[in-house]
Amino acid sequence: MKTGLIAALDTTDPQRARAWATAIAPHCGMLKLGLEFYLANGAAGVRLIDDRPVFLDLKLHDIPNTVAGGVRAILPLAPHFLTLHASGGAAMIAAAREAAETAGPGRPFLLAVTVLTSFDAETLHSTGVAGGPRQQVLRLARLALDAGADGLVCSPHEVAMLRDALGDGPELVVPGIRPAGSAKGDQVRTMTPAEAAAAGASWLVVGRPITGAANPAAAAAAIQAELAA
Ligand code: C5P
Repeated sequence: MKTGLIAALDTTDPQRARAWATAIAPHCGMLKLGLEFYLANGAAGVRLIDDRPVFLDLKLHDIPNTVAGGVRAILPLAPHFLTLHASGGAAMIAAAREAAETAGPGRPFLLAVTVLTSFDAETLHSTGVAGGPRQQVLRLARLALDAGADGLVCSPHEVAMLRDALGDGPELVVPGIRPAGSAKGDQVRTMTPAEAAAAGASWLVVGRPITGAANPAAAAAAIQAELAA
């Protein structure tokens, strides 16, 4: 399986995001814009960044009717990937898929976030979930895919388990990647690009190791080279 690279442009500053996009886009498969960028700059900001489809990481979670309306509202931006929370339930995901389908064959692909990587067993218990994180990830992954999600966002340490359980079909999009020797920041359980690719990731999401590098283009190119090796 070929693993692609997604660069996360995490900033509220549209000029900075644009400069990163210009430098990095030739060395990655896709650019990711998150909640902070979208809330600060809206759809007009997204249009500034790149003329290629982007990954909009908005992690939608609301009643089905509202999420479907949100998906329809985002269709003119034609993102390649759009995220939503699997814990929103099957009806919410099915409504999002139905709304996405109205865009036709170039529709956004929906990625479901299962358990946030900032959660551990204790935080999960405090929200009323009895089982451990891996059990909950698998339960929500199955629920999301059955309801119409195209893939999942998961930690590198869940990729092998999800591939075993779900096969090669779903897109597995994986943050928490740190090239050997780079700072971990707030990511705790990381893997290198080569390790996550070997486990079965479809796409790797990499932010600060690229955007915080002295030469972001070179940092992205080095990760691409590691994936191609
Ligand atoms: O800078 P870093 O490489 O840690 O950035 C990872 C990106 O992936 C960030 O945009 C972060 O919001 C996102 N992400 C994550 N963990 C998740 C889901 C998304 O780190 N579970």
